Amino acid sequence: MPENSMEKPNIVTCTAPVNIAVIKYWGKRNEELILPINSSLSVTLHQDQLKTTTSVATSRSFQEDRIWLNGKEEDISHPRLQSCLREIRRLARKRRNNVDPGLDSTGLSHKVHICSVNNFPTAAGLASSAAGFACLVYTLARVFGVEGELSVIARQGSGSACRSMYGGFVQWIMGQQSGGKDSLAQQVEPETHWPELRILVLVASAERKHVGSTSGMQTSVQTSCLLKHRAESVVPGRMEEMNEAVRRRDFTAFAELTMKDSNQFHATCLDTYPPIFYLNSVSHQVIHLVHRYNQHYGETRVAYTFDAGPNAVIFTLQQHVPEFFQAVQHFFPPESNGGQFVKGLPVKHATLSEELKQAIGLEPMPKGIRYVISTKAGPGPCVVEDDTQHLLGSDGLPK
Ligand code: DP6
Repeated sequence: MPENSMEKPNIVTCTAPVNIAVIKYWGKRNEELILPINSSLSVTLHQDQLKTTTSVATSRSFQEDRIWLNGKEEDISHPRLQSCLREIRRLARKRRNNVDPGLDSTGLSHKVHICSVNNFPTAAGLASSAAGFACLVYTLARVFGVEGELSVIARQGSGSACRSMYGGFVQWIMGQQSGGKDSLAQQVEPETHWPELRILVLVASAERKHVGSTSGMQTSVQTSCLLKHRAESVVPGRMEEMNEAVRRRDFTAFAELTMKDSNQFHATCLDTYPPIFYLNSVSHQVIHLVHRYNQHYGETRVAYTFDAGPNAVIFTLQQHVPEFFQAVQHFFPPESNGGQFVKGLPVKHATLSEELKQAIGLEPMPKGIRYVISTKAGPGPCVVEDDTQHLLGSDGLPK
């Protein structure tokens, strides 16, 4: 091959989902390996609404590993990126040595170019690192022909990423080993298990910079005795109850545990010293709205959960979506020219009764919620077969 001529890269493109925890992960026992102090359980959101797409190219011609995230080249030396790259290459080498030590069919010695984009605005403050690292690890594994328990590798990118390696309902077993081999994700039920379950992501408007999960949970582990109590004495029982609620499709049990666990997580943030506040006045109003709505009907029809930010994620059953959505729109009147208030799965129209409005009895907060993403549980990572969808061109650079 003449010098300077570029060898056509081998490119693989995959997508991976976002997940939302209903039993929260908060706190590590090992920072480097990302080993948690408790197990957690999440619902994988549908990729039609929220996903990361990643292309990985390998070529003999590449001089160095490079990465572009949402259109911008980033520093590949980030320790967590390096952990994922190192672990995939280690498994690939192990596999090659077992098959044919002389063979390098997978381009193991080649450098990689990685390009990744989200189909949702990063500014929405939705945890994108879980989908991002899950997609990276899944795509790298395809490129290098690696099989096996990939959630253990995704975990080393971002803890919650291990749960994005599966669709449906997923638990992250905390594990006991110091090396972390048994700290992995498992599918509890597939995405088809509970077809009536619906999810509304309420994207809060006032987005101020808040404490990141990684440093937030570090301070919590160091200072909160409530977190210690939670991890040791509360979560083990809740994991069993949540597994059971999901298995039986028991919405009441699922919803109550989800809300209680979100509230306890935010209580441990308050118990952290100095305290961490992730919820704002919009979040508090959503919490009141949900409880008063449920109270009015004398049953638990809707649940909320919040991660390390003010956005609420709502769980409900299909039949309650139209009315609850109307309630959200009534108590958080959107900007009149602010574009579509609901994105994703269509929401049928409903009218709110005066009786319900009065029973809820909150002062409306105009523009408190920017928009709502309507979605449901969805599948895990997948390969994109259509070559025209690659994010990298035949020159190995972003298209
Ligand atoms: C509140 O997975 O973002 O969303 O492991 O440090 O990358 P690192 O943290 P991350 O933490 C997520 C915390 C959470 C709860 C959850 O998803 O379980």
